[in-house]
Amino acid sequence: MAKYKIAWLPGDGVGVEVLEAARIILDKINLDAEYIHGDIGWNYWCTEGDALPERTINLLNNVDAALFGAITSKPVKAAAAELIPELQNKGLTYRSPIVRMRQLFDLYICLRPCKAYKGNPLNYKEGIDIVVFRENTEDLYSGVEFNPVPEKLAKTLSDLSKPFSSFKDVPLNDYAISCKINTKKGSERIIRAAFDFAKKFNRKKVTVVHKANVVRATDGLFLETAKEVAKDFPDIHLDDANIDAMTMWLLKNPFNYDVLVAPNLYGDIISDLCAQMVGGLGFGCSGNIGEKLAVFEPTHGSAPKYSGMYKVNPIATILSTKMMLDWLGENEKAVIIENAVAKVIAEGKVRTYDMGGNSSTIEMAEEIASKI
Ligand code: IPM
Ligand code: MG
Repeated sequence: MAKYKIAWLPGDGVGVEVLEAARIILDKINLDAEYIHGDIGWNYWCTEGDALPERTINLLNNVDAALFGAITSKPVKAAAAELIPELQNKGLTYRSPIVRMRQLFDLYICLRPCKAYKGNPLNYKEGIDIVVFRENTEDLYSGVEFNPVPEKLAKTLSDLSKPFSSFKDVPLNDYAISCKINTKKGSERIIRAAFDFAKKFNRKKVTVVHKANVVRATDGLFLETAKEVAKDFPDIHLDDANIDAMTMWLLKNPFNYDVLVAPNLYGDIISDLCAQMVGGLGFGCSGNIGEKLAVFEPTHGSAPKYSGMYKVNPIATILSTKMMLDWLGENEKAVIIENAVAKVIAEGKVRTYDMGGNSSTIEMAEEIASKI
């Protein structure tokens, strides 16, 4: 029996291609693993009404980790229109399967390292090395949303709110509510994870990203929790910034930042910005990490316009694979993969289109494999 069971979730579009590339690396490094395919994606929504079928959830309950490609997502109405006729009008609602996996398996850490590898022509500046910790289960991703708004809720809110609230006396169909729900527990565990990481890897500063000056209840709780957690880490500097200012300061002086920690939505936004500074989504790797399971994925989407072309950069997925090995405790293998990626980037002989070259997804993976 293999040492590890890995759920293999290619999903849609280029997800299939980048996972093929990752497999070239895993085979070269000889990981003692069994890779078990899981059905996930747009197809399963259209034909079964579920993009994350029960059998895939069962699979995820029985593996050590998962590697995930990408999923095509569409807004609720557009998604409903693509269901097969038998499933129409059953009131099925589409929710992104990655968001569901994060919540179902309590993958509360979204870890997104953003490192500028030397010689990457897409680096915003050489030497950037920022690690984003994004809360991954709550906040505006709670899934508690209303459109139309139930009458009872509308009345409660109307009674509680100030007389000038824009939604007073608006018909129930004409406004919508998405709940930003943050808990002390949810905030504390992601902030602690960021500090633990900083301590382990000798990083000096953790910056909390928020908007506590306006979104007082939820972001206020997040910031206050950070101040409490920071007391346990006297050697690490706690810094904080509003999300809007943060987008400017990050560009102005990326070297002022080290580890960032943010509630879900701000983390989503800021991690794209950080990824862009180190080469764009072709370099955006990530891990969705819980206590029992972790799902690793490139942060780019399924890129339908490139689907089937074997054009996209597999480095984001290969670095996510490296993160998976770290999580499994295969740190030596993880280092070998990262070094191979760094070497190929520095040499600059094989480059995908985003890097100004014309090598394919598979050629890039093979070049990296050749350095292992
Ligand atoms: C990400 C993505 C997802 C998110 C989408 C695909 C639901 O943008 O992983 O950053 O919003 O979390
Ligand atoms: Mg995102």
